[in-house]
Amino acid sequence: MTTLYEGAFAKVNLTLDVLGKREDGYHDLKSVMQTLSIRDDIEIDVGTGKPWKLLCDKEGIPTDERNLAWKAARVYCDAMKKDPNGLEIRITKRIPSEAGMGGGSADAAAVLRALNRHFGEPLSVMALAELGAQVGSDVPFCVMCGTAMVEGRGERLRKLPDLPECFFVVVKPDFSCSTAELYKKLDETEIAKRPDHQAMESALLAGDLGKIAENIWNVFDPLVTAEHLEMNYIKSIFNSYGAVAFQMTGSGSAVYAIVPSFEYAAVICNMLRENYPQVFIGKPV
Ligand code: C5P
Repeated sequence: MTTLYEGAFAKVNLTLDVLGKREDGYHDLKSVMQTLSIRDDIEIDVGTGKPWKLLCDKEGIPTDERNLAWKAARVYCDAMKKDPNGLEIRITKRIPSEAGMGGGSADAAAVLRALNRHFGEPLSVMALAELGAQVGSDVPFCVMCGTAMVEGRGERLRKLPDLPECFFVVVKPDFSCSTAELYKKLDETEIAKRPDHQAMESALLAGDLGKIAENIWNVFDPLVTAEHLEMNYIKSIFNSYGAVAFQMTGSGSAVYAIVPSFEYAAVICNMLRENYPQVFIGKPV
């Protein structure tokens, strides 16, 4: 029996624009996504001699076909004509759920990377990302990691320069948002402000953290902030203690700050821990 180890890294959306509704009911989006060092750990035993199984250390996470990590193992084994029996996947969960941080997608991507490595890298990263699109919209990006422009439903990826040195403080408030409802609400709303992707790309190319900060924008943020005023409280703490930008990620409800120094990140973290048990510090990776 062999055991594989793989990190499953969270993502945040530096920008997120929703372009329109597609015929399949989903929406086309355009987003600059960023991987953070905040991670789950994936361990996979291969060759247990038993039916395949998935375990997670956190209660409330499904351990059957509803789990994207499970779906990823099945999609990989189907594509490569392998038998999934004999796999035992164990997930150590740290990335908060229903946060907009792509936790389930990160686990799925880690399973794809680990299995592909085990079988001698038969698929390139891009081929693996394409396979990931069958598992979930954020999986292709989570396979690739880093900084990227993501389009379509999430299957079109273009690598962008890494972020300059900085820290992210991420807070997951207690409430959660329904992604489907937010998309529906957005369909019924005039989007007053959209991200300027050209400006964001130029800022990334220049490695200019100030300009990157100016161009952080998620079209879902005003919808959620209007309904959950505690978002303003969290943002006011970010603003008072040296954050250069702050924004909700994905369809929420986690909200992040970009902070130039670890010292300020630690201060923000301590301030928010009084009211929020789920506060994290991460770095772009
Ligand atoms: O990707 P996820 O399963 O979290 O999406 C939940 C719901 O959000 C979908 O069923 C769909 O209604 C909506 N959605 C969308 N366009 C996307 C992603 C999600 O309309 N690109």
